[in-house]
Amino acid sequence: MVNKIRSCVFISGNGSNLRSLIKSSRDYNFPIKIKLIISNNPNAKGLRFAKQYSIPYKFFSSDNKEKFERNSLFEIKKKKIKFLCLAGFMKILSKNFIKAFGYKIVNIHPSLLPKYKGLNTHTRAIKNKDKYSGCTVHFVNSKLDSGKIILQKNVKIKRRDTLNTLTKKVLLEEHKLYPKAISKVFNN
Ligand code: GRF
Repeated sequence: MVNKIRSCVFISGNGSNLRSLIKSSRDYNFPIKIKLIISNNPNAKGLRFAKQYSIPYKFFSSDNKEKFERNSLFEIKKKKIKFLCLAGFMKILSKNFIKAFGYKIVNIHPSLLPKYKGLNTHTRAIKNKDKYSGCTVHFVNSKLDSGKIILQKNVKIKRRDTLNTLTKKVLLEEHKLYPKAISKVFNN
């Protein structure tokens, strides 16, 4: 694929989804290339993948969200970014940011949306004795975990599952679902 879309990934933590996107982006037919990684956490473990794969990265504090967004937009424009992926990014982007960026933004969430928006999704699913948990990739708007759904994957909750085992199982599916959803966005 010649014209891959210049993309940025926002992270706050471990970056296992970031890693799966970096790996997919190295496939010839994957529609995006990752040109920038931004973290709002200076100690995000995921930043090690930026270093490992020599991808430019920035840390901006989000203590002041307006400032974080302004700094990020500046870098994003500078690098001519045309697609943004949130991967374990723990802040809600403002309407202004989304409008000013002007291109598609996607996120991955560890539940079968619209069920369990927000945090502690697996704990809530286990507590409610749900038969399934799972993950969702969706477009981002300024309401938490509420944009149009692109793809979802169910993961069965077994009786012996704990928060730990379920988190691991769903995360493995996330790593497959996120690249698949991005290919779908660009009709690959
Ligand atoms: C994932 O479960 C993702 O769905 C959620 O935060 C977690 C991030 O994990 N938004 P990682 O940083 O990609 O390993």
